[in-house]
Amino acid sequence: MCGIVGIVGQTPVAPLIVDALKRLEYRGYDSAGVATLDLGKLDRRRAEGKLVNLEKRLGEEPLGGTIGIGHTRWATHGVPNETNAHPHFAQDVAVVHNGIIENFAELRDELKADGVAFSSQTDTEVIAHLVASGLKNGDAPQAAAFAALKRLRGAFALAIMFRGDEDMIIGARNGPPLAVGHGEGEMYLGSDAIALAPFTNAITYLEDGDWVVVRRGGVEIFGMDGQPVERARQQSVGTSLLVDKGNHRHFMEKEIHEQPEVISHTLAHYLNFAEGTVADFDLPFDFGKIERLAISACGTAYLAGLIGKYWLERYARLPVDIDIASEFRYREMPLPKNSAALFISQSGETADTLASLRYCRGEGVPISAIVNVRESTIARESDGIFPTLAGPEIGVASTKAFTCQLSVLAALTLRAAKARGTISAEEEQSLVRQLSEAPRFASQALKLSSGIEKVARELSHVRHVLYLGRDTNYPLALEGALKLKEISYIHAEGYAAGELKHGPIALIDEQMPVIVIAPHDRIFEKTVSNMQEVAARGGRIILITDEKGAKNATLDTLETVVLPDVPEFVAPIIYALPVQMLAYHTAVIMGTDVDQPRNLAKSVTVE
Ligand code: F6R
Repeated sequence: MCGIVGIVGQTPVAPLIVDALKRLEYRGYDSAGVATLDLGKLDRRRAEGKLVNLEKRLGEEPLGGTIGIGHTRWATHGVPNETNAHPHFAQDVAVVHNGIIENFAELRDELKADGVAFSSQTDTEVIAHLVASGLKNGDAPQAAAFAALKRLRGAFALAIMFRGDEDMIIGARNGPPLAVGHGEGEMYLGSDAIALAPFTNAITYLEDGDWVVVRRGGVEIFGMDGQPVERARQQSVGTSLLVDKGNHRHFMEKEIHEQPEVISHTLAHYLNFAEGTVADFDLPFDFGKIERLAISACGTAYLAGLIGKYWLERYARLPVDIDIASEFRYREMPLPKNSAALFISQSGETADTLASLRYCRGEGVPISAIVNVRESTIARESDGIFPTLAGPEIGVASTKAFTCQLSVLAALTLRAAKARGTISAEEEQSLVRQLSEAPRFASQALKLSSGIEKVARELSHVRHVLYLGRDTNYPLALEGALKLKEISYIHAEGYAAGELKHGPIALIDEQMPVIVIAPHDRIFEKTVSNMQEVAARGGRIILITDEKGAKNATLDTLETVVLPDVPEFVAPIIYALPVQMLAYHTAVIMGTDVDQPRNLAKSVTVE
């Protein structure tokens, strides 16, 4: 994670770097820093905590200079304090880094044996010292940087600046993203195009193994063999606007409320509502010919994929293997020739998901991805992409991206079912009609906000919560637990309702709220039996159901949240909303930092 910026400009760059870092705060927000070169002086300001603290520091003690680098951090090595904040210095060298240097301990020991003293606990500082030791041995800056890069193992995006050269920043990419921005007599480096959007939309995305020498007059790009390489310059569509919260208290609240609209946009992209058919969008494989689909993703995106598995297997009779990407990337799964791979990622930069994609590329299967950021690395490395039309998601906890991922997966299910001949034209029409109602049902679900706030008040007093569900409500139970723990810091677990009696039921007592997600579907009665088991042991049930379910639940609940009756196919999209709202209200009542919860970052570019 972490966001990095570099500017070789014409005017003082420190305020511009802070402005760009604001757009990168989603990549980490536990400390930040800026360094500039000004008339031969290399200087920096750093601050623990969010960017406002760095802005305050710069207000008190401004930095001059028309060349500089900046960083917003998500700590990997060393606690988030000012000493560990980037940029890191070693004599004439300043470095900002996103990623992890896996052989840093070995390099640090070697440098220490040469008499180098370290001032931070970070892995990044070894890079600065390695480059500085090259300079000490008589290498020119470019040669010293290249020699250091060749010694690094792990993942990195870097920007390096040298006292003595006020017209050069060296950048490098191996894993985390790095983009070069082309200006008029000014050049930029940034973790993504959005960070650079106010300055330029002419962008060159670097590939793994690229390193660059950026000067006011242009950029030279090299490979790890030291030879020049060509990379295309593109027009970025990234917007420079910092999206605001409108009338909402938090981005998360705003994004929850945007769902009827963004679900509608996404569905309209993949379905032809007027004809009641799934659209003929491009696919990098033929659903009629593949025998298996491997889905891989992380966190909430993984849970969207899990719901997709239920749908694709049920409606399209397509066997689906689904994995958490951090497991998939190392488990060496054999992929038969007639299979395809699908990756799901809001950011399109998640390191484990990207590594899984590259594993599948090596296995020679067609690669597709559901992504929200169309210029992301995962999008660029896929044979075909299925964009979600959620718009920028700023809240760290994913909400609208999740329901848009589900919307795309629902459309893909119909496309697969049609290609495999498992649904008739009438069934296709009926399922498309059901999906066309999803935005309306989502609006109705949002109206339950005040009732859900009441439930949230109950949750705000407890330390542990269980979520239960069957079938597609099981991934939703997992998602409910994930959302609650990440923003309210209450310990929560999700279980398949039928699995409770195989162990977790031991946890049930009068203190334990059990949230059951159970619309009145084919297996509602099975879930009711599981609720009875909880009630018999004194557990306090909070039921999220529909009108029919509320009538037929035949047991006392602590609270019941009643949604409109919705068709089974659409239910996971709609039931995601009360689950999100419950986590949101609980976090607000508990006074946590809802949009930027502790220890997290929006884009996870380390493994
Ligand atoms: C949870 C959440 C995370 C992300 C996960 C994957 O609310 O947002 O679990 O879903 O980090 O991120 P992307 O989708 O960017 O690959």
